[in-house]
Amino acid sequence: MTAAPEAAILGTGSYLPEQVLTNDQLASKVDTSDAWIFSRTGIRERRIAAADQATSDLGIIASRRALESAGITPGDVDLVICATTTADYIGFPSTACLIQKALGIGHVGCFDVTAACSGFIYGLTIARQFVKTGAARHVLVVGAEVMSRILDWTDRQTCVLFGDGAGAAIVGPAGDGTSAFLYTQLNADGEGEAALRIPAGGSRLPLTKDNIDDHVRYVHMNGREVFKFSVTTFEKSCRAAVQSIGKEMDDIDWIVPHQVNDRILKTISERLGFPLAKIYRNLDKYGNTSAASVPIALDEAVRGDVIRTGDMVLMIGFGAGYTWATAIIHW
Ligand code: UT7
Repeated sequence: MTAAPEAAILGTGSYLPEQVLTNDQLASKVDTSDAWIFSRTGIRERRIAAADQATSDLGIIASRRALESAGITPGDVDLVICATTTADYIGFPSTACLIQKALGIGHVGCFDVTAACSGFIYGLTIARQFVKTGAARHVLVVGAEVMSRILDWTDRQTCVLFGDGAGAAIVGPAGDGTSAFLYTQLNADGEGEAALRIPAGGSRLPLTKDNIDDHVRYVHMNGREVFKFSVTTFEKSCRAAVQSIGKEMDDIDWIVPHQVNDRILKTISERLGFPLAKIYRNLDKYGNTSAASVPIALDEAVRGDVIRTGDMVLMIGFGAGYTWATAIIHW
């Protein structure tokens, strides 16, 4: 294959499970309230996968929609990347392999990316490199999560925050005068290890019959630490991103952020002097869907005619690791 000049997003798709879990419904399970959750996070409700739906099932539907919107067939896909923290299986096989099989994609490379809430932008960045070098023409990048399976439903500090869903994008060569990536940047700081993790179930602390009931197999989070990290990182990364392409924040039409917490997004808006109305938010409906949050928001904004041809779109994700990642796309 010959080297292609630049990559673009050729199509997007998303899928949200039907079942809605409202704050009021949650308040009947744990000691919380709609007033607390909404005022502290901006979340009203979230979606919960059906009992027979695993992460790949959500990702498959989002991927079909992305293929359709890009106008390509499964046979056109050269690489499948799935960003997830809730893979169908621990370790292997990868969720990307399961998506490949279900969609009838050829025997191309498939792998999962573990970068928590930044995973989708990590995936886009990898896809961009493959397309730019000519090693792949069309890359399917999926962000899919069934967070409800890794939450401690007795821990009010975490279970109110997350939801299930999937989003996907097709990355391929930019055509003449069409959308193109202008910037991608990956970062991480392993010092964040203790702030946000699932303590057990991996090689450090395998699950045993003695610890299985200790809640160690669920998400553990120091909310205040993560909050501070998110605000600082978000601001710095946005400024660095626009600066590196010789632009100002004013040149950005839309920020499509990880749907983390409305208070974080409002703080960022103030710190950057960037209008809140131009930060795309849907966390009131879906909560934090981790690696799925950016692609769901992107797909919703594109299909809703919010993001339009010619717009300058800055996407940003941050999460466990710590990891963070930024992309700017001329849409
Ligand atoms: O993708 C990255 C994922 N991580 C995040 O999104 C987390 C970022 N952090 C946050 O969003 C916020 O830190 C939280 C929403 C998690 C918590 O908000 P906060 O304003 O930092 O609350 P806090 O942890 O300081 O807790 C304040 C109070 C505490 O009570 P006391 O000690 O003041 O009596 C908590 O026990 O609120 C209590 N609390 C709750 N009350 C009702 C904590 N969770 C709840 C709850 N309902 N769900």
